[in-house]
Amino acid sequence: MRKPIIAANWKMNKTTCEAVAFFEALLPKISGTCEQVEVVVIPPFTAIAACRPAAGGVGIGAQNMHPEPSGAFTGEISASMLLDLGVSYVVLGHSERRAFFGESDHFINQKLKRALASGLTPILCVGETLEQRDAGEVAAVLDRQISGCLADVEPSALPKVVIAYEPVWAIGTGRTASPAQAQEAHSLIRTKLSMLFTKEAAEQVRIQYGGSVKPGNARELLACPDIDGALVGGASLAADDFAAIVLAAG
Ligand code: 13P
Repeated sequence: MRKPIIAANWKMNKTTCEAVAFFEALLPKISGTCEQVEVVVIPPFTAIAACRPAAGGVGIGAQNMHPEPSGAFTGEISASMLLDLGVSYVVLGHSERRAFFGESDHFINQKLKRALASGLTPILCVGETLEQRDAGEVAAVLDRQISGCLADVEPSALPKVVIAYEPVWAIGTGRTASPAQAQEAHSLIRTKLSMLFTKEAAEQVRIQYGGSVKPGNARELLACPDIDGALVGGASLAADDFAAIVLAAG
């Protein structure tokens, strides 16, 4: 049985005070779900230190990291710096980083291997653009991203990786993938994983759906057999909405 994992990607939102207030509102609403659902909040770097003591049993993630352990990389953050703050998860290869900051599958692969070696749980984002979907390239894009980003990962390490299928056309657009579209993509991803690694390892990987997840659509998405959680952007900024999505997974 794969434990559902619901994560809040706050992107470039919330000051420290806003972040702490969010947890004060969230925790009482989700107190009964900790056993059944893994809940993660991924604040901007600047709010992580304030979030950790406020977060109770909620895991804390970071939105990015650099593959090198230290050195002359102005503006970057290393795995050990994240661990130092009590971070357990790191989002890698988000489509906004691929599109706005030119991140390649190879660079994401370097980060992912460093995250695994450091004991962080990578949340690896993959997904096609609308143009690629319209051109019938969904399977090819997912194949390329999965094999590139997971190159040289040992089958024994695979179950530690969380994958987030985030179709770019559904992010921040209010246009959610239908449960059938999402399930089809998740199943393609799992099949690809079993070809690259082992069937047993692929069966253990949690695959989140991300892209305009809201309280109103979470339940039907999460009911699909290969959808093991959600990576939530906009709707994770309000504690009420995020709590409702967590409860939909419980
Ligand atoms: P939205 O939920 O705002 O569409 O964002 C999804 C996302 O990018 C999460 O990483």
